Amino acid sequence: MTEPGAEPASRLLVRDLAQVASPAGAGAPLRGTELGVVDVLEDAYVLCEGSRIVDVGEMRALPPQAGDVEEVDGRGLSAIPGLVDCHTHACFAGDRVEEFALRSAGASYEELHAAGGGILSTVRATRAAGEDGLAHALGRHVGWMLRAGTTTFEAKSGYGLDRDTELAQLRAVRSAGGVPTWLGAHAVPPEFADEGPDAYLDFLLTEVLPEAAGLAQAADVFVERGAFDVDGARRYLEACRAAGLELRLHGDQFTELGAVSLAVDLDARSIDHLEATGRAGVARIAASEVTAVLLPASALFLGRPMPPARALVDAGAAVALATDFNPGSAFCESLPLVCSLACTQMGFAPAEALAACTVNAAHVLSLADRKGRLAPGFDADLVLVADGDWRHLVYHLGGQVVHTVVRGGRVASTGAA
Ligand code: NIG
Ligand code: FE
Repeated sequence: MTEPGAEPASRLLVRDLAQVASPAGAGAPLRGTELGVVDVLEDAYVLCEGSRIVDVGEMRALPPQAGDVEEVDGRGLSAIPGLVDCHTHACFAGDRVEEFALRSAGASYEELHAAGGGILSTVRATRAAGEDGLAHALGRHVGWMLRAGTTTFEAKSGYGLDRDTELAQLRAVRSAGGVPTWLGAHAVPPEFADEGPDAYLDFLLTEVLPEAAGLAQAADVFVERGAFDVDGARRYLEACRAAGLELRLHGDQFTELGAVSLAVDLDARSIDHLEATGRAGVARIAASEVTAVLLPASALFLGRPMPPARALVDAGAAVALATDFNPGSAFCESLPLVCSLACTQMGFAPAEALAACTVNAAHVLSLADRKGRLAPGFDADLVLVADGDWRHLVYHLGGQVVHTVVRGGRVASTGAA
């Protein structure tokens, strides 16, 4: 009901769509065979009012619309839920194209990191950018993500590694409409090179956590040789939980150090990467509530093995897909490309890939009650795929598959293909 004198909510009708495709069921996260079921309506519409979807149906059942309704012509297109990128490092300044060239000539990511390059070179650029420079860089990256179909994104700090820049990153992500994750424990900064990781964690927990907890949704930690060990990660995560944050981990990217057990013990929201995870780790995750966030663009970009994705799904694990968008290990903002990699490199079916970067990714961000499906009551976030068969989203490898993006009930990007 509209209050007397109030503006009626604007309506947007996306009509004559060849298909409307949405992950089946109503729960989250989807697991096992449920992950692979997508409901498809043919010759259909989606009606949005304000920032919500109010109706989805077949054209022949479309009720007459009274009053002003903006229409989008969906002929030859298919609609899927707006994509949810639940793991990015999009809040960075500068780039690492020089490092990319060195890696293509044979240098390894870990060697560059150990030599003070890698993550620490982006830390230098991000510290130097200032709050305005950082907001500008993030805005540019968010524009790329939106045009690739991402309507909801998470982004981590972790390129400040000092109090002011870490907090500036979290504020920038919030201002850009993203979900901020505090990744203070991403690397040990040069100021703590002599004292080591434990002293740096002490600093994070006493000097940064109190304010970070008021800005971020979750805390994250990089458990790896040359970053943080399991004992340090446990201490950091327990303190972050006590401060009210959800817990996430970068684990098993290069080495199995026990991050999976830690994630399960602490009932973390997610464990991300898992390129090095073996059978016991797969079984442990599958029997838990922890979502495995798989990042195939990162594995591809670093020439690493893909994570054991098929084994995880078959064992009943909750899995999500994300880009890991960052300047070092995955300079890739495109979830459609990630979905193609999931299908070509990790044995996913198109329907599994779609659910993994919509419903299940929304679950990782505690947003599954309003994002990740095309259904009444959900946020009016849609991607119009540039073909009448929605599976072109994953079939068209690196192609212009995103025709139009609707976010919050408004056309936010249009024009491709
Ligand atoms: O998820 N591995 C740790 N962090 C990022 C990479 C960050 C960077 O290289 O700048 C990742 O891959
Ligand atoms: Fe990451």
